[in-house]
This record gives sequence, structure tokens and C-alpha cells, in this order.
Amino acid sequence: MKTNHLIIIPIVVFALIFSSCTNSSKSQSELSATSNPEMNIFIDSLLQKMTLEEKIGQTVLFTAGADITGPTLDENYVSYLKEGMLGAIFNIHSAKGARDFQKIAIEETRLGIPLLFGYDVIHGHKTIFPISLGEAASWDLKMIERSARVAAEEASASGIHWTFAPMVDIARDPRWGRVSEGAGEDVYLGSQIAKARVRGFQGDDLSKNNTILACAKHYAAYGAAEAGRDYNTVDMSERALRSTYLPPFKAALDEGVATFMTSFNELNGVPASGNKFLLSDILRDEWKFDGFVVTDYTSINEMIPHGFSKNEKQAGEQAINAGVDMDMQGGIFLRNLKNLVEENKVSEKRITTAARKILEMKYRLGLFDDPYKYFDEQREKDTHCKQEYLDDAKDMARKSMVLLKNEHEVLPLSKNKKIALIGPLAKDESHIIGSWSAQGDRSGKAISVFEGMEAFLGTSKNIKYTKGCEIEGNDTSNFSEAIRIAKQSDVVVMVLGESEGMSGEARSRTNLDVPGVQKELIAAIKKTGKPIVLVLMNGRPLTLEYENKVADAILEAWFPGTMGGAAIADVLFGAYNPSGKLPSTFPRNVGQIPIYYNYKNTGRPWDPEKKGDNYKSRYLDVPNSPLFPFGYGLSYTSFNYSDLKINKNEFNFNENIEVSVTITNTGKYNGEEVVQLYIQDVFGSVTRPVKELKRFKKMMLKTGESKKVLFTLTLNDLAFYTQDMSFKAEAGEFKLFVGTNSDDVLETRFELK
Ligand code: BGC
Repeated sequence: MKTNHLIIIPIVVFALIFSSCTNSSKSQSELSATSNPEMNIFIDSLLQKMTLEEKIGQTVLFTAGADITGPTLDENYVSYLKEGMLGAIFNIHSAKGARDFQKIAIEETRLGIPLLFGYDVIHGHKTIFPISLGEAASWDLKMIERSARVAAEEASASGIHWTFAPMVDIARDPRWGRVSEGAGEDVYLGSQIAKARVRGFQGDDLSKNNTILACAKHYAAYGAAEAGRDYNTVDMSERALRSTYLPPFKAALDEGVATFMTSFNELNGVPASGNKFLLSDILRDEWKFDGFVVTDYTSINEMIPHGFSKNEKQAGEQAINAGVDMDMQGGIFLRNLKNLVEENKVSEKRITTAARKILEMKYRLGLFDDPYKYFDEQREKDTHCKQEYLDDAKDMARKSMVLLKNEHEVLPLSKNKKIALIGPLAKDESHIIGSWSAQGDRSGKAISVFEGMEAFLGTSKNIKYTKGCEIEGNDTSNFSEAIRIAKQSDVVVMVLGESEGMSGEARSRTNLDVPGVQKELIAAIKKTGKPIVLVLMNGRPLTLEYENKVADAILEAWFPGTMGGAAIADVLFGAYNPSGKLPSTFPRNVGQIPIYYNYKNTGRPWDPEKKGDNYKSRYLDVPNSPLFPFGYGLSYTSFNYSDLKINKNEFNFNENIEVSVTITNTGKYNGEEVVQLYIQDVFGSVTRPVKELKRFKKMMLKTGESKKVLFTLTLNDLAFYTQDMSFKAEAGEFKLFVGTNSDDVLETRFELK
């Protein structure tokens, strides 16, 4: 791109322009982009000085080369930067590295506009927390917010301004590897978590140097890829889109999320990065989104193989006109927008608007005040892996674990038991931190299960370890050693599961069994007759029918992060009573997929109690029910639900619905319970799901303690997209359920009149 026609204005002059706008008494982020007159004056005046090329430059994002997640199309990003043709860079993750690039932007470009640095900070930056799906299993919004806050503290200290998170895609197909990156299958839980994560990343003031821009991704319906194959086609009704897939995006927006990322998939024939309906009609016009939209990695270029654009130029035209503001890694805006303006296919106004949205975010971060404010190497050293953060990561990991089975109270283990610790993940320090673990250390910083147990017990004298087998492959040569140590033990703890690389982007699977010969290993150990405690690490719901038959206890630990082994030890030995609940249904087999709790009834619902009831909606070979339902998770104690009451039986459209229920800890341990409230609208102008989560409350109950829990529902909680697509509640009968999971509930009814 030629720049020699640009008027060279000394940086000092611009420094003066910038500083004249910064002596304001109000912090930049106190005012939203639309209501910040000082910002508007500043950006207006800057835009007036920018050439068309420089405006286009703001819409260009390239990776700096490290940690790339797709094809590298253009290595010339440094020369683009010097020409003012690059507004943002991703995948630089050190204060020093970012400073070096920023210096070029400030000192060697005509206008000295600061760069924006992005990175995928997904479940921690240095201190790695459990994978996002694991965090969702905690149902603990404060802790989820805290996790994002810690990630922002650490990432911002490494010069990062912007994270490509949270991923808020609802996912109901565990074949899709990216299930691990989201919050599971449910609209309400997913929306609450989306908000918590945005709060955590962005904090209360974007102009502070420890807060970062969040990005709601991947907009939209990416989680509904056909057959669970990544990047695949999505074809769905507008009602399904609006009811299930869009609400977490709207929730993130309501929480003030700064940016949106488009998705790779097409939706009803139109790729998301060229989708005007999604990007302009809904996001800008209906929802009034004020931040900027970035594409996913080269997704504008991919509109060609999609069969939507005949060449790059047309793809660029379609993307910018649909509402994309920034091109990630594709180089299409860089190479084509100027020509498209000259040919009147794209208006300069549209490009000015895109540049404005991006500049506004730079302003709100305070980068025009001080472009180097995030690059303090001392702060970087002091911030990373602070003890406080490690403690938080351990706490989050403990809360994320879901106890799926605990026969004969085999757990918690008593400290003096002789333990055989077996499995490819038992001494692992690498997979345990999970996929997309940013700058987390894979070489010894993370605590393995072995180390966690040893530290908990103060010695390893009662622990005999062998690997047994690899995660994948056929080698059974270590089975005999595993059997030998199992025979010498009181209990066998087996740590099995997937490799971290089996979940995440482009990691779809059609077989959801525990891979390799790990199943055979359990079978071999089962023959010893010793009790088996199975600890699982995995990035998605697995098919566990066999394991559920043979193991005495199963603890779903997901990929629990840096402190994972310590957290697992706390749970196994009872220092922490597990409280996690599944954010996704676990199927019996792959043939049941998609399977989720809020399905529709059909005209021929199957009642498993009625024998010989043919011609019903069912399978011949397995029940319709999942192996473990949404919201399911055991505790070492037991909880009794009683006295479910609604303040009235009939409500008019102006009244709130007050619900109360009493929960009693009837077991021997103090413990936390997640009390879940669901509704069903029994008849509607369009059919409604059998259950919909509307509220939940996580709370601690001491042994013997009873607590009355109160929930208030409003009319909005009863509303849905009716036959004419208006979002409203309809008069009629409702069922209301409260319980310990989506299946095991008390039930009552009320009417809306
Ligand atoms: C992923 C995004 C990610 C981006 C940048 C893409 O391949 O789909 O989730 O944020 O790369 O790394």
C-alpha cells in the first residue's frame, strides 16, 4: 500500500491533540461510547485527519506469528504497521513484545495511533483455571467472574488489551470439540455465565490498566454445526436461533461487552461474516450494539469455498456491508476496501464508521492517554501466578468437579488407605491444564494428581503409581504392573480420559468413549475385585455406560488447570465436598445425540413405565433418557427438598410469582447444593420445551441444617417467541419444578390469566 501521498505531521502535534483531550475529570469508560462527548470530539477530529487508507488500516488485524490458530496468509504485518495500515495485532503475549510493536505504531507512523493487542485468554493466562465447560459446572457465578478477573489481571500485565472470550455458543452436540470452550447446553445458565465472564474481563472501568476488552464469540449459532463437525453448516429457524442461540450474546451485550466475533459457519445459507441479518439487522439495529465486530480467523476469505463470494474482493464487499468492522488475519480489507470505495461498492462512510468503533475502544482503554500503560515488565513479573491466584484456581477447580457416582460411600477416602494410582493422566502435568490454556506452563508448574495426593497426605508411602497405558494407542504391556499394584491396595484410583488436544477447535469426534485401551485397563483392574474410583479428565460429555457399571465412584474433573491435582486430592479425601452440576447432558451413546434436557414432548411421548406401548417416540435399543441429566451432580451429603410453594395459584400479567422451597442437609457432611428452578408452559401458540431452567441458587448447608429458598419470577421469565414471533407470555397453565437436577424435581402448577 502506498503512503507517500500522506501529509507527514510531526508526532508532537498529535501528542498535543491527544493530550488536549485527556485532561478530563471523568474516566473514559464512565461514559458509554454513545454518550461520551469528549470522546466523540476527539475521535471526530482524528478521523478528519485520517486518509481512507489509514481508516482501512484500523480495520486490519494480523497475528504476530506466535500461537497461530489457522493459516498465516501474510507475513508483512510489520511493513503494514509502519504504513499505518494495521490497527491491531494478536498473539503477542509479553509486555516487552507488545511495547516494541507499540513503539513502531507511535513513533514511526504518520498519526501515531496506538495498536490494540488481542489474545485468546480463555480460562486463565498464566495461572490456568479449569476449562470453560468445567467452570460452568460450578454454577458459581462469583467464582466464574473471579476467574475471568484473574485472567484479565495476568493478561493485561503481559500487554494484552483484548481477549477473544467469552465463547458463549450454546452447544448440544458433544461430538463438537468446542463444547469445552463454552458454558454448555442451557440458555439461562449460559447467559448468566456470559455476563459473569464479561464483568470479570472488563471490570468496572476499561481505562484501568488491569481491565481488558471482552469479545462475545462466535456470532452466531456456531455450536449447532451439523453432525458436530467443526465449521459445518447450520440451518435453523429464526425461532430456534432467537430462543436458544442468541440469548447469551444478548446477555453479554447487556453487560457491556466491547466486541463481537463472527463465526465460521453459514447460517441458513449465508456465512456469518457476510450475514447482514445477524450483523446489522439484529446486532446494530435491534440490539444497538455500540462496540466493534471482528471476524473469526480468515472467515471472510472462507466465504469463497462456502460458495457465497466469487472472489476476495466480493467477499470483502459483502463482509463490510453486512457489518463487519475488523478483518482477522484475512488481509481482505487491507487489499480490497480502497478499490471497493473507488468503485462505489462500499461507502467511505461505512469504513469511517468501522474505524470509529475501533478507535473508540482504543480511547476507552485509555491508549490515547498512554499507549504504553499495559507494558510494565515489573508488574508482569509481580502479577503472574500470584499465590492468591493459585488459591483461586484451586478453589474454582474444586467447585467445577462433578461427582457422578459414589456407591457404598467409597468416597471420601480415608487418609490411611493403601492406594493404587493408575492411568495415563495420573501423573500428568500437561494435559491437566486443558486446551486453550494460553500461556499456562505445561512443564511442571501444574500440579498432577499424584503430586496433589502426595502433598495432601504429606507422604507418598501409601501411594503406588503406574501409568497402565497411554491415552491413545493399543499398548497393553503395562497392564500387568497395574494389576499387580491394584492387588496390593485397598482402593484403586484411576485417572483416565481424553488428551487436551482432543477437544477445542477442529477436534470433533464421532466416538465419545474414553479413548485407546483405557476401557480395557478398567476391565482388567475390575477383575482384581478392588474398589475403583474413576477420576475423569475430558473436554466434553463422554459416553460412560461401561465405566458407570464397573467403577464404584466417578469424579468428573474436566481439565482442571494449574492447581488441578491439588483440587482433586481435596475432593477425593473429603477436604472439599463436591458440588458441581453438569452443564451438559451426558448421553448413553452417540446415537442419542443431540440430547438435552429441554426437548419438546412430541405427539407420541414415550412412557418407560408403560410396557408394550409401541409406536411411541423412542429407540429400540436404549431408553430415551441420558446417562446423566443436565444439572446432575452428587455430594458426599444428601439433600432433601420439601414444601415447594407458590404464593398464589393464579396470576395476572402484572404480578410476580414468588416461589419458596425448603432444602435440608440430611447427610453427614456440610455441603453446597445448587437448587434449580424450571418451568414448563404446558400449551402455547407454538409448543414449548418440557422444562426450561429459569433460576438457580448455590448455597452451603451444614449437616442437619434446613434453609428456605425464595425465588421471584417475572412475566419476562414466562415469555417466548410466539407464533407471530413477538416475545411475550401467553395466558394459560404452567408447571413449575424445583430440584437437585433437571430430572429429580418437586412439581407444582400455576396459571397466568
Ligand atoms: C478461533 C477463535 C479464536 C481465533 C483467534 C480462531 O481459529 O475460532 O475462537 O479467537 O482463532 O485465535
